[in-house]
Amino acid sequence: MVDINNEILKINSIKNNGFYDVDLNPNLDLFEEINKLKKEKNAIILAHYYQESDIQDIADFIGDSLGLAQYAAKTTADIIVFAGVHFMAETAKILNPQKKVLLPDLKAGCSLSDSAPTPLFKIFKEKHPDHKIITYINCSSEIKALSDIICTSSNAKIIVDSLPISQPIIFAPDKNLGAYINKITGRNMLLWNGSCMVHEIFSLEKITKLKIRHPDAKFIAHPECEENVLALADYIGSTTALLKFTQHNPSKIFIVATETGILHQMQKLNPHKTFIPAPPNNSCACNNCPYMKLNTLEKLFICLNYETPEILMSPELLNAARKPIEIMLEISAQYGL
Ligand code: 13P
Ligand code: SF4
Repeated sequence: MVDINNEILKINSIKNNGFYDVDLNPNLDLFEEINKLKKEKNAIILAHYYQESDIQDIADFIGDSLGLAQYAAKTTADIIVFAGVHFMAETAKILNPQKKVLLPDLKAGCSLSDSAPTPLFKIFKEKHPDHKIITYINCSSEIKALSDIICTSSNAKIIVDSLPISQPIIFAPDKNLGAYINKITGRNMLLWNGSCMVHEIFSLEKITKLKIRHPDAKFIAHPECEENVLALADYIGSTTALLKFTQHNPSKIFIVATETGILHQMQKLNPHKTFIPAPPNNSCACNNCPYMKLNTLEKLFICLNYETPEILMSPELLNAARKPIEIMLEISAQYGL
């Protein structure tokens, strides 16, 4: 057990407001300490592919949004540390109301989730009472509670296909994923006007130039990207699907249009292949998700050590948001996902 007095010099606030003021001893071996704490507390670390490399390397499970929800649904751990963003940790809590779910930084939100405020979404829903609501998992638990079925980028097509073609559907909040699913299913779902700031930043012009410079490269993209970027892609899929594609496709070079965190696993699993992040349309590092990158190994250690900040929700909200997630998990299981 870490000696708090020795290792932590100053703690001003470790309450559930996501604010830390903790100085760690720089000589602390965080990998060793986190592994010790995990054993002592029967805790697991779940990490999304967009997390920084160190967090991916210490995680018990790394996955896309669907894989993480499925893993969270079956874990026997007492504590889940969710190295991802707020809606992902909320999903884990909804599936495990009795367990303690921690998020290293409560400010790790999501621009896509923020693009669907609950009061506006309620009004939209009331205007279309004959529509079923399929909502991308990148949304708040309040929006989940207003939805019929949740989906992720891995299963959006099969979830949409599970409803009769005559059924009018609202798809929220990602208009890019919704437009892509409309295209591949031949539907005309009503789309909420939301998007992800990271996946809308790619430069069509720079991608085109990269493709010309690397004619043998495969260009692969996440379906949260805009239609004109997706139109150039050799393959479109969720982060897990993109990773699998790089393992099975014989190409030696890939241009990757999604958040750059995924490149860590791509490179680890394919050490002899080359991965080029698709460039953003200016010189910023905007293809890094600023929310995902709020989590650090230091915050993860502090969060597991003090068991805060914790994800807390009312029992009513937990219950209302669970049903549409469970329907998604059932349909996914039926299709072997
Ligand atoms: P997936 O995890 O479904 O690939 O979605 C990516 C994403 O943007 C998560 O925030
Ligand atoms: Fe949200 Fe986009 Fe960041 Fe994913 S990459 S958490 S969708 S802002």
